[in-house]
Amino acid sequence: KKVVLAYSGGLDTSIILKWLQTNYQAEVVTFTADLGQGEELEPAREKALLLGIKPENIFIEDLREEFVRDYVFPMFRANAQYEGLYLLGTSIARPLIAKKQIEIAEKTGADAVSHGATGKGNDQVRFELGYYALKPDVTVIAPWREWDLTSRTKLIEFAEMNQIPIAKDKRGDAPFSVDANLLHTSSEGKVLEDPADEVPEYVFSRSVSPEAAPDKPTYITIDFEKGDPVAIDGEKLSPATLLTKLNKLGGENGIGRLDLVENRFVGMKSRGMYETPGGTILWYAHRAIEQVTLDRGAAHLKDELMPKYAELIYNGFWFSPERELLQKLIDASQEFVTGQVRLKLYKGGVHIVGRESPFSLYDQDLVTFEDGAVAYDHRDAEGFIRLNALRLRTLAQRKRKLGQ
Ligand code: ARG
Ligand code: SIN
Repeated sequence: KKVVLAYSGGLDTSIILKWLQTNYQAEVVTFTADLGQGEELEPAREKALLLGIKPENIFIEDLREEFVRDYVFPMFRANAQYEGLYLLGTSIARPLIAKKQIEIAEKTGADAVSHGATGKGNDQVRFELGYYALKPDVTVIAPWREWDLTSRTKLIEFAEMNQIPIAKDKRGDAPFSVDANLLHTSSEGKVLEDPADEVPEYVFSRSVSPEAAPDKPTYITIDFEKGDPVAIDGEKLSPATLLTKLNKLGGENGIGRLDLVENRFVGMKSRGMYETPGGTILWYAHRAIEQVTLDRGAAHLKDELMPKYAELIYNGFWFSPERELLQKLIDASQEFVTGQVRLKLYKGGVHIVGRESPFSLYDQDLVTFEDGAVAYDHRDAEGFIRLNALRLRTLAQRKRKLGQ
């Protein structure tokens, strides 16, 4: 067996690496991606070498631009939120990792892939649906569903027996589980497990609390072109640089914290804490530019389809015909979503204070309460209302007749 492992360099995936070698006698290929999680990647190479991986079997890639350009931005064109709130920061990263693993499998002649997601969560589903969609004959190895290392103590024992270096803070009880990338940081488990208890401040890692944010508002502008942000305060930026900058602005102003109880695809409810500073700003800004550039019918249709689209991403169906069909519709809707949004960031709040577009449908002459030479005749409204009222009046008459 030759296995491509999604390898972070951390303790858990190092244990998986060793377990694949000892349990399957597998030749392991490691794949480590920079998705903007804010960690050095070179230590992962050192560690892989230390664990006996051949240099030509170590793959390390900076995927930040691809992640934001081809995954995050397309998703934000839809204003996607799962269950009304979650901006899908983990969900959207999984398909890209799966795709790269399969590419490396093809390149190195590997027949199997493996990941470090547990058997109780969404991530196993997302990884594996991605693998099968791109390589139908692939063998998937999910160690967490197979091995007997079912407690922290057993894991640590296995690591010690196999000379896997263990960071001091990993020795005791497992800390809460964290997943981070350029879009968000998510934390679940341990101190967060009781949804009645407030999340302690030390769990947050990339934003100040709104209380600690500056007492002075920060004003920024974001330029959009065809639904994607392209500049901040007039400065053109690449997708990953732009999101990095929004993260900084959001984090400093206490923006994008979310405490959520959500429904996992596998059936249970789970409580998580999310920090999505830049994404939260972007979500509001994108809606604001759509306010002036999208027709009502198109906008409402998008809003109706959004929960479906978000659920597909949450459930791991990025590489599915239904997600791709929805994406085509969403992308087509963005043709005129171009212009500038001005925002005020203040103590956890994102406030839209202005929007303008060369393609604006907003017509001040049409909407003004002042007299104007307009294509709108007040007298047309009378018939419009009478016809719309017709069935309501019919119902009211029946009610009256029945003495209700
Ligand atoms: N509940 C989130 C999702 O399903 C995050 C999952 C991964 N996060 C983690 N802390 N392990 O997308
Ligand atoms: C995991 O189970 O590995 C993390 C949580 C999730 O995937 O929902």
